[in-house]
Amino acid sequence: MTAIAPIESSTLQLAASFLRKGGLVAMPTETVYGLACDASNPDAVARLYAAKGRPSFNPLIAHVASLEMAQAEAVFCDAAFKLAHAFWPGPLTLVLPVASTGTVCDLARSGLNTIALRMPAHPGARSLIAGFGRPVVAPSANRSGHISPTLAEHVKADLDGKVDLILDGGPCTQGIESTIVSFIGDQPTLLRAGTVETSALEAVLGTSLARADEGDGISAPGQLKSHYAPNARLRLNASAPEAGEAWLGFGPDEANGLNLSPSGNLTEAAANLFAMLRQLDAEADRIAVAHIPNEGFGEAINDRLARAAHRDD
Ligand code: TXA
Ligand code: MG
Repeated sequence: MTAIAPIESSTLQLAASFLRKGGLVAMPTETVYGLACDASNPDAVARLYAAKGRPSFNPLIAHVASLEMAQAEAVFCDAAFKLAHAFWPGPLTLVLPVASTGTVCDLARSGLNTIALRMPAHPGARSLIAGFGRPVVAPSANRSGHISPTLAEHVKADLDGKVDLILDGGPCTQGIESTIVSFIGDQPTLLRAGTVETSALEAVLGTSLARADEGDGISAPGQLKSHYAPNARLRLNASAPEAGEAWLGFGPDEANGLNLSPSGNLTEAAANLFAMLRQLDAEADRIAVAHIPNEGFGEAINDRLARAAHRDD
């Protein structure tokens, strides 16, 4: 049994002591709950991959508490600095060349000479990393391929007994994973859509972002077609539920079921997405999902829904 603990100085100290011993601690972030371990400790990272059942060729995001910590790990170009200044702390991950002073172990980077870095905004995550004093890697705290957790209880449902402690920071405010921008290659490239919108990034950069293709070999599991997979089958862009389908609505509608945002607010919909998918997945074998406008956060929501709906069979 893994304990769920509220965030206070004693539990943050306990969590940091687990990290120092190579343990695994689930922590809230503003996007989703992350499963943190010491990024410099390959044994801890191996335990983390095993707990998630994650293929080890997928590299992890290193989470930092300060720009200084980030600069020890990666080489920042001017454009990357601009994004860091504009959006950190916050739900943005930057992929950069590894610095010679970097401490993140090869296993966490899957042997790549690049590193994904993020400075989370959630005070609980920041306090934990600052107290620990070094970067932690933190993929979403779910079984690999399953729906990302936005509540401490979701973490427990997936990883009970496999992690040392779950820090409870309440519901995640953003609800979907960070936007990922890569500065490897000729042009900054959007690897994963998130709640930092493409238009906001482009405004700060003063250039447009390239888009990564599914097939271009960049190893991001968020880019595998079937990720975020519930057990239920999803039917997207539905106008109403059919017999036997659970309903996930958006905006004013009359259907019985859950509604991502009755007022049609995409921010609220993003925050509700994973928790509602989990709830309906537990109740039904088929889920019909209303049309979500593909603007603003809608791009990231539709990206996650398309992956949740995809079946390889
Ligand atoms: O919001 C988030 O980013 C959450 C919270 C916990 O911070 N974390 C998260 O981590 O989503 P994870 O491990 O589930 O996703 C990491 C993504 C993957 O798609 C991975 O392939 C990509 O980042 N990534 C990591 N290192 C990379 C690299 N060097 N080059 C390209 N992609 C990389
Ligand atoms: Mg994940």
